[in-house]
Amino acid sequence: MIDWVVESFAKQHERTDFSCGKPALDDFIRSRVSQYEKRRLGKTFVLVPSGGKRVVGYFTLAAGAVSFSNLPADASRKLPQHPVPVVLLARLAVDQSVQGNRLGERLLLDALHRTAELSSRLGIYALEVDALDAAATAFHVKYGFVPLLDDPRHLFLPITTIEGVFG
Ligand SMILES: CC(C)(COP(=O)(O)OP(=O)(O)OC[C@H]1O[C@@H](n2cnc3c(N)ncnc32)[C@H](O)[C@@H]1OP(=O)(O)O)[C@@H](O)C(=O)NCCC(=O)NCCS
Repeated sequence: MIDWVVESFAKQHERTDFSCGKPALDDFIRSRVSQYEKRRLGKTFVLVPSGGKRVVGYFTLAAGAVSFSNLPADASRKLPQHPVPVVLLARLAVDQSVQGNRLGERLLLDALHRTAELSSRLGIYALEVDALDAAATAFHVKYGFVPLLDDPRHLFLPITTIEGVFG
């Protein structure tokens, strides 16, 4: 069985043939990720075999904010009326050759763990995601993400839920 590890993206990672089925996500990891790192627009973490360099999955985190008016009533009634700080899960993808092996779940849990760690040093209300399509929405909802009010594919997972997972 392959031992997978998640590590910070580095230019040496092999990703020229990465293919998850979504061209925009393939294009990002093949061609754009280095510029995003350089300009601090996103921090990308890749899934590789232990000791190897071939990328089979990745996710990108960035700082974000969600409008007060987009929060469901049960969340907003306890909050001041200004945007709430979030971590944005900007991208999440697994190569088609290994999809269906719980690697998407592994990457999502890693993103949740990093968000929980950050929240001890930074105000973070939730993890936000703009799901690409209905399938991606279903994947995130399975892990407890809740729709925001502006779009059924615009989702959030409260930090209280995330901290409940990691103690
Ligand atoms: C979505 C994606 C990351 C899932 O990765 P994966 O490694 O194939 O999924 P996993 O094996 O970890 O699946 C874990 C669980 O999620 C479910 N799941 C996986 N893909 C799903 C989908 N598209 N819709 C609904 N549920 C899904 C699995 O059935 C499994 O559920 P189970 O616990 O009931 O068995 C992957 O299919 C992918 O890269 N898709 C293309 C890119 C994309 O759409 N990314 C999301 C951008 S917002």
